[in-house]
Amino acid sequence: MNIEHTAEQVCDAYGNDPTRLMDIVRGVQHRLGHVPDAAIDAVARRVGRARVDVESVVSFYGFFSKEPKGRIVIRLCDDVIDRMFGYEAVRAAFEEELGIVLGETTPDGRFTLERTACIGMCDQAPAAMVNETIVTWLSTDKARRIVSELREHMTPARLVKRVGGGNNGHPLIRAMVHNSIRRPGPLIFSEINRGEAIRKALSISPAEVIRAIKTARLRGRGGAGFPTGLKWEFTRSAPGDRKFVMCNADEGEPGTFKDRVLLTERADRVFAGMTIAGYAIGASEGVMYLRGEYAYLLRYLEDVLEKRRADGLLGRGVMGRDGFDFDIRIQLGAGAYVCGEETALLSSCEGMRGDPKNRPPFPAQKGYLGCPTVVNNVETLCCVTKILEEGPATFNMHGTNRSAGTKLLSISGDCDSPGVYEIPLGTPLGEVLEMCGGTQAKAVQVGGPSGRLVGPDGFGRLICFDDLATGGALIVFGPDRDILEIVSQYMAFFVDESCGYCTPCRVGNVLIKRGVDAIIAGRAEPRDLEQLEDLCRTVKSTSRCGLGQTSPNPLVTALESFRPEIEARLRADPNGYRRSFDLSRAVRPTEQLVGRKSVHT
Ligand SMILES: Cc1cc2nc3c(=O)[nH]c(=O)nc-3n(C[C@H](O)[C@H](O)[C@H](O)COP(=O)(O)O)c2cc1C
Ligand code: SF4
Ligand code: FES
Repeated sequence: MNIEHTAEQVCDAYGNDPTRLMDIVRGVQHRLGHVPDAAIDAVARRVGRARVDVESVVSFYGFFSKEPKGRIVIRLCDDVIDRMFGYEAVRAAFEEELGIVLGETTPDGRFTLERTACIGMCDQAPAAMVNETIVTWLSTDKARRIVSELREHMTPARLVKRVGGGNNGHPLIRAMVHNSIRRPGPLIFSEINRGEAIRKALSISPAEVIRAIKTARLRGRGGAGFPTGLKWEFTRSAPGDRKFVMCNADEGEPGTFKDRVLLTERADRVFAGMTIAGYAIGASEGVMYLRGEYAYLLRYLEDVLEKRRADGLLGRGVMGRDGFDFDIRIQLGAGAYVCGEETALLSSCEGMRGDPKNRPPFPAQKGYLGCPTVVNNVETLCCVTKILEEGPATFNMHGTNRSAGTKLLSISGDCDSPGVYEIPLGTPLGEVLEMCGGTQAKAVQVGGPSGRLVGPDGFGRLICFDDLATGGALIVFGPDRDILEIVSQYMAFFVDESCGYCTPCRVGNVLIKRGVDAIIAGRAEPRDLEQLEDLCRTVKSTSRCGLGQTSPNPLVTALESFRPEIEARLRADPNGYRRSFDLSRAVRPTEQLVGRKSVHT
C-alpha cells in the first residue's frame, strides 16, 4: 500500500481540514495499522500544518502509534478495580497464551498486548478492549479462550457470543457489556417523550429556556458543579456569530461508567439536551466528544443522529422552526484522560494534543475554534431535557435546596451489586452503601482518584455539592484492602495521564508516588511523610489545570481518614540514617559507569 497516497486520501475525506487531525490520524492508523513517518509528512503537507503538529498528535494519544502494532491490539485495563478482581492472573494468562509480555507484539505481527487505564467497565472488571470490541468479566480461562478463538478467525466482534441487556443487543452495538442499572430514578432514566422537550423549548424564548434551567437550579454533573443556566447565559451574551455546544462524553475518571449507560439507553435524551442548549445560546453546531474506549457505540449513536435528522429534530429548521438550524457531529477521542478537562477537550477537537488551555478566557467567551462554547456533561444534558419536558418544579422537588435533582452514581468494587444508581442528591453515603450491599466497607473512593477517599467516619456525609461533591464514581473498598496500595496505584494513574506541561504535575506526581511506595516498603520515617504532605500542597496549588490540582487527593484524603494506619508504617532509623534514601539505586549509575560494584551494596 502506498503510504503517501493513503494518507492523502484520508486527508481528502476530511476536506484537508487541520482541525480534523484526530479523525485523519485515526483514519490513517486504521488503514495502515500505524502512523509511520512518511504518513506524518504527507498529512502535514496536505493539511498545511507543521510536521511537529501532526507528530505531536500521534505521540500524545495512547491509541495512536508510530510503530507497527499487531492486527489485533488487546488493551487490558490495569486500574485499581481490575487489580482487585484478578488483573494479574488475567494478564499472566494472556501473556502465556500469546507468548509475549505486556507492551510487546507477537513475531507474526498478529497480536499486541498492552495495558490501559479505566475503560469504563468497572462494574464488570477485569475488562479489556480487543481493537474496539469490549470483553468483560475476564478470568484466566476466558483470556485463554479469547486468544485461541482470535487465532482462528482474527475477528474481535465474533468474541461476542451473548449480548448484554437493552441496546447492547442493538445490531449496531452488539456488545457483551451489561447496563447494570440497579436503581433507575424518576428523572434521568425516565422514558423520553421524543421531541417533547424541544417542542416546549421552541415554544418559549431562549432567555426563558435559560430561566427554566436556572429555576430548576441545575448544576453540572461532570464534577465541578457549575450552575448550568449561568454558563449558558454567559455563552449566550458573549459576542460572536458562531457558537458551539459541546457534550463531554469523555468519561475518563476511573470508576465512572454512568455516561456509558446513558449513551447506550438514553442517547435521544442527550442529543435533545444539546439541541435545547443550542437554541438557548444561539448555536447551530454541536459536537459530542466521545472517548475512544466507547468507539463501539459510535455506529449506533450516528444512527440515532441520522434518525433525528430524518424526523426533523436536527438539521435545517428544527421541528419546523425557521431560523433555528442545529446539527451534531461526533468527535472520537483516543485514550487520554486529560481530554475530559474542558479546555483540553477543545484542544483535542481542534486537532491538537489534548493540552489544557490557560483560563481566562473561559470556553463561554472563547472556546472551540475561538468561538463562545458551552461544554456540558452527558448527564447534565439529560437533566436539561427532563426539565424542559416536565418543568423545573418536577426536577427540583428532588434533592436539596442547593443540590437539586437526582444524581447518577457508578458504583463498583467490594459490594454485592455494582452498577448505576439514580439517587436524590443529599442521600447519605451510608445509605448508598446499604443499597449496593457494601456495608462492610473500610473506605469509599468518592469521585474517583481525583475525588476523596472516605473512611467509616465519613459514611454519614451527604452526596451533594455542599458535602461530598462527585461526578458519580463510588469505589467501595472492603476491610482487607491496603489503603496505601490503592493510593500508590492512583498516583501511577496520574503520572501516566499528566500531559507534562507543568513541572509540579509532571514531576511532583512521580515524587509523591515514590514517597508512598517507600512507606509501603517500610523505608519511610515521620519526616518523609511531612515532606510528602508539603509536596502535595505544592502540586495542588501550583498546577495549571484540574488534573494536577487534584492529583495529590488520594494521599491527602487517605491521611484524613487513615492517618494512624499510615503513620504506623513509618519508622525512624535508630542510627539516624535516612531510611527512604535508596543508596543502592543512587549509586547504580556510577557503578555502571566505572564497571564495578560499590562497597555499600
Ligand atoms: C482531568 C479532568 C478530567 C475531566 N473529565 C471529565 C469527563 O470525563 N466528563 C465530564 O463531563 N467532565 C470532566 N471534567 C470536568 C470538565 O472540565 C467540565 O467541568 C465539565 O465537562 C463541565 O460540564 P458540566 O458543567 O455539565 O458538569 C474533567 C475535569 C478534569 C480536570
Ligand atoms: S496540571 Fe498536569 S495535566 Fe494539567 S496542564 Fe499541568 S501537566 Fe498538564
Ligand atoms: S474498567 Fe477497569 S477500572 Fe474501570
